[in-house]
Order: sequence, then C-alpha cells, then structure tokens
Amino acid sequence: MEEKKLQDEEEVTRRSLLRTACIAGAGAAVLISGLKGRANASGGTYPQVRISNVKDVKPGNAVKFDYPLVGRKNILVNLGCSVEGGVGQDSGIVAYSMFCTHLGCGVDIDKDSGMLICECHQSVYDPKQSGKVVEGPAPNSLPMVALEVDKNGDIYAVGVAGLIYGLRNNLLDGEEVR
Ligand code: FES
Repeated sequence: MEEKKLQDEEEVTRRSLLRTACIAGAGAAVLISGLKGRANASGGTYPQVRISNVKDVKPGNAVKFDYPLVGRKNILVNLGCSVEGGVGQDSGIVAYSMFCTHLGCGVDIDKDSGMLICECHQSVYDPKQSGKVVEGPAPNSLPMVALEVDKNGDIYAVGVAGLIYGLRNNLLDGEEVR
C-alpha cells in the first residue's frame, strides 16, 4: 500500500515536471510562422517537403530528415506536450537542425533527458524552448524547422528559422531534397 502511494506520488511529480517544462518552453519560443514560400536574402525560396504523418510520430518518437537541401540533417521529435511552434494535435511536434552551432558536430536526442545533445563538447539544447542552449559552449539556439500539417495529418517542412552551421545561406550550394 505504502509502495503504491509512493509510485503514485512519483508519477504525479513526473507529470508535473513535464507540464512545467512545456509551459516554460512556450514562453521562450521564437516566432517561426510565415516562413513558407518566403524568399531569403539570395532570392531562394524554401521548398515544402513531406516529412512524415502525425500517426507515425508518437510522443517520444523521432524522425531524421534532410532539409532544405540534401545533407542538411534535421531531427523531428514529438515532445508529447504543447510548445510554441509545435504542430500536431498536442502542438508538441517540432524539428531542429542536427548541426551544433558551436563547431558543427552532430546533435541528437537523448532519450533519458529529452534534450538535444552535441556529441563533441556536450552542448545541451532544449527542444521545448525553441532549441535554446542550456549548457555547454554553443553560442546560439539550434535552427528550428518550420512545420505545417495538412488535413490528412501529413507533416511538411516549410522553412528554417536561423542559419545552419557553416552556411552563409541555408538554400545555397546544394542539391534539392526530392
Ligand atoms: S561542436 Fe557541439 S559543443 Fe562543440
């Protein structure tokens, strides 16, 4: 009985933390809407590329994809709670560049903490706070991919807010994603 009560308390605490983290993230988010079809400084326009379907991205799941050009790797995650810039039924699906803003090493999701962590010098980015740096030497937030969902639940990448590491322009010098 005592053990059951402890488990219930732990579950409530876990859920409370999750909710708190999501609310905190919503306040710190950047505005990334309005990127679709927008020309950037060089006159290029972001393509609309299908990434997945909301049915296939359950909370805790991740999908990796190239965008806006081949080799520009990104990760889409379902955070399972509402965050600014998120799409899907719970507004919890977000996507970020996988290139660290410090020196361009690979960033990936850490299943235990839910954070995006760089493999080289362990910069930590919070996907609930628009990819904000919360630890490590990275100077800037991860570029955030603008997403849209159509009536069939298909998720599309439609733009990128922020410059991907090492590039002068996110849309130059590369091959289109097909
Ligand atoms: S390259 Fe990511 S922290 Fe240094």
